[in-house]
Amino acid sequence: MPASAAEHTWGVQRLRIRPQGALRGRVRVAGAKNSALKLMAAAVMARGTTVLHNVPRITDVECMSDLLRSMGLEVAWADGSTLHIHRPDLIVPEAPYELVERMRASIVVLGPLLAVENRARVALPGGDDFGPRPIDMHLRALEELGGTFVAAHGYVEGTTDGLVGTRILLEFPSVGATENAMMAGVLAKGTTTIENAAREPEIADIAAFLSAMGANISGAGTSTITIEGVSELEPAEHTVIPDRIEAATWLASVGIAGGDIEIAGARADHMDMVLAKLTEMGMEIVPTDGPEPGLIVHAPDRLHAVDSVATLPYPGVATDYKPLLVAMLSTADGVSIVTENLFAGRFRYIDELVRMGADIRTEGHHAVVRGRERLSGAPVRAPDIRAGAALVVAALRAEGETVVAGADHIARGYEDFVGKLTSLGAGVDILD
Ligand code: UD1
Repeated sequence: MPASAAEHTWGVQRLRIRPQGALRGRVRVAGAKNSALKLMAAAVMARGTTVLHNVPRITDVECMSDLLRSMGLEVAWADGSTLHIHRPDLIVPEAPYELVERMRASIVVLGPLLAVENRARVALPGGDDFGPRPIDMHLRALEELGGTFVAAHGYVEGTTDGLVGTRILLEFPSVGATENAMMAGVLAKGTTTIENAAREPEIADIAAFLSAMGANISGAGTSTITIEGVSELEPAEHTVIPDRIEAATWLASVGIAGGDIEIAGARADHMDMVLAKLTEMGMEIVPTDGPEPGLIVHAPDRLHAVDSVATLPYPGVATDYKPLLVAMLSTADGVSIVTENLFAGRFRYIDELVRMGADIRTEGHHAVVRGRERLSGAPVRAPDIRAGAALVVAALRAEGETVVAGADHIARGYEDFVGKLTSLGAGVDILD
């Protein structure tokens, strides 16, 4: 992906969508945002230069780069998608408010810093558009490893005399808490087990990187992760797994507009449950072999509804897919019920879809979606990354023009969003 293409979408406020019928062509997914950010945080744990390939050129990665730089690391792009991160001997183990506020995922530096520096000071993330997102499970896991935390002046400060391996039982398979505990556990003395661990593919990717750095981890990607602590990590080179949420975005686009596309780089084995749902809706999705995996996708003129979709921790349908699924179901034939089990506030974009003529009724954490033949183009606002993308793809089946404001959210998580959609024949352009 040419860097300039990503850069020219940064800072974009509004996108205009004018439906142009079925999509055709080939699109390549970038590296997974939710893995790359954590791999960058893990680089803090090894003195020297880490090399990460297939890093997406998105604003969240720039934000994590700024955070690492503020701690004293050097971060530089080597080419389009390879990032070099150099950690000197001395760093400042602190994540300032200005950066944590920009990106909540910054909290993932807490475990690595505590493990390698024996102290960490990280601004407390506030609530965001998904409602309050506490970090109690992160802190409890790190306390069990021997960290002590105090909260003062909007920061959480952690110290330790040296982390010691233990059994950690998470009360919920939180992705972030699993990552913080796993990264801290690799430098803790003795054995750490994390039970009820999150099983997302990104966790296994982080574990693969940590292992390349010299960590001794087994079971990542299952509910029980076992770690034998080591005293030091070496910098390593690693290729980020493809972004399954981005892949789902192109699936949703063709699902809504109809057509035939190829999604290069997508890994079907990371998307089993959502692919099953899309097949139920009438899409034909064939994984391809070869040096680079991918998906060949055919979507009929109109999808049909599914009885129910519920978001669950992996391997269930990810909460991040949900705005895309709701957008698809709002133009599908029939009635569907969508249930959110992870984040209370993740129905906010529904008001925007309703402004586009969607027939959606929410009750608690359920949404009843009655499919309409077409939506109606309208000015709307993107509330977050995935919901922003969902509004754009919903507009591919609307009468007339839709303008999505707040499109900067989309650039936080998508590399060259407009360029990729346009290459599939979608009528999307940047207004300002
Ligand atoms: C990550 C992903 C996000 C995805 C989510 C679930 C990144 C940067 N973000 O977020 O895109 O939607 O996984 O797949 O990787 N919770 C607590 N206490 C805690 C931690 C979490 O109550 O200490 C709650 C949260 O409020 C939420 C649920 O647990 O309701 C799931 O959160 P979690 O799995 O931790 O998600 P994140 O790691 O924040």
